[in-house]
Amino acid sequence: MNTLVIGSQWGDEGKGKVIDFLTETADYVARSQGGSNAGHTVIAKGKKYVLHLIPSGILWPGKVNVIGNGVVINPTSLVEEIEYLRNEGVAISPANLLISDRAHVVLPIHRDIDAAQEEALGDQKIGTTKQGIGPTYADKARRVGLRMADFVDPERLEKVLKARIKTANEELERLGWPAADPNVTLDAVIAAANVLRPHICNTIPVLNQAVKEGKTVLFEGAQGAMLDIDFGTYPFVTSSNTSAGGCCTGSGVAPTRIDHIIGVCKAYTTRVGAGPFATEDDEIGDYLHGLGREFGATTGRPRRCGWADGVVLRYSSMFNGFNEMAMTNLDGLDEMKTIKICTAYRLGDQILEYPPALIEEWEACEPIYEELPGWMQDTSKCTTWEELPENCKAYVKRFGEIIGCPVGTVGVGPDREQTIAVPH
Ligand code: IMP
Repeated sequence: MNTLVIGSQWGDEGKGKVIDFLTETADYVARSQGGSNAGHTVIAKGKKYVLHLIPSGILWPGKVNVIGNGVVINPTSLVEEIEYLRNEGVAISPANLLISDRAHVVLPIHRDIDAAQEEALGDQKIGTTKQGIGPTYADKARRVGLRMADFVDPERLEKVLKARIKTANEELERLGWPAADPNVTLDAVIAAANVLRPHICNTIPVLNQAVKEGKTVLFEGAQGAMLDIDFGTYPFVTSSNTSAGGCCTGSGVAPTRIDHIIGVCKAYTTRVGAGPFATEDDEIGDYLHGLGREFGATTGRPRRCGWADGVVLRYSSMFNGFNEMAMTNLDGLDEMKTIKICTAYRLGDQILEYPPALIEEWEACEPIYEELPGWMQDTSKCTTWEELPENCKAYVKRFGEIIGCPVGTVGVGPDREQTIAVPH
């Protein structure tokens, strides 16, 4: 059984908990897009880890973890992550961590270009993580990028790296940004390449062989579907396909080999960075922040908060082909007297069931809400569907109807035990 786990909103949906649960029975865990812009908080056997590039199966002995061809890898960050995990007692070797030779390399220069581009945009900036993700994918599309395959032969690496640093510095100069010291970049990348070299291979046949042998492969999506470069709130998106299709192109495992797709969503909505957010609402934002919830895992920045957006989730369920939703943070609504869910957008005299393409139009959309009575009760101790308050069960069922995809599980707290199966 091969499963994709995809964030259905703007990231930070709580994928880590769902992935941790599924990892237990997986043989292989693969990442197929994004890079160190992702921050995956995983609680494995009661201990908390924050992972950026390495699939969460690394926390379990005997699982093979694959960083697929669609991922962009900052080699220094990856080495730091390996060291962090080793210090935590996690064993990492070429037997349990494989890196695709086709994955593109994030260089220090890409981070500089990311920062320079953001600064140049002024108040129009995207609010990127400044990890160099966009510029690296841009180089990939421009066919000038470095790939992990370039790390295999040290002599070749030095040659291609020097050439790339030269052209990238010319680019930085054009942006009015100080040029990077070529030797610092060279030394840092070469040092990291020496550590990563034994892990680099063609992961495409490895994953396909695993599928052929009937092994269980779990694909760990990063970010969220509304940050997808094709389907998201363009240009306020990341630079990869964060949706289900990206798992296939970013791993080399064909769509016909995928058995099940789970969309992870919060019971409400959050987003970090700029861009349209029709259901953004101060009442719920102030309330959640007051509880100490919804602060970024890596930056500590408060996330933007709002009600569940049925337009976004209906769209996301459609283009991802979700079989079921894993709803998280339902307990975040425990004290809400009235709960709103957006069923459609009003744009001038039009009613929209799906989001518009133009960002100005999306910004101008007014949410049409359905209001449901809250349950005003602590759900965090509930362990079965029957124990949940009636109004809570009604919200979960109505949520599934509005978005056109059933909710399969609900989360009422961060622990594994705080996950409840929803009867069909
Ligand atoms: P980039 O991926 O760093 O280029 O950032 C583009 C947009 O995606 C910004 O709005 C970021 O805040 C957002 N973003 C990138 N990665 C994540 C993530 O893992 N969680 C939530 N938002 C993210």
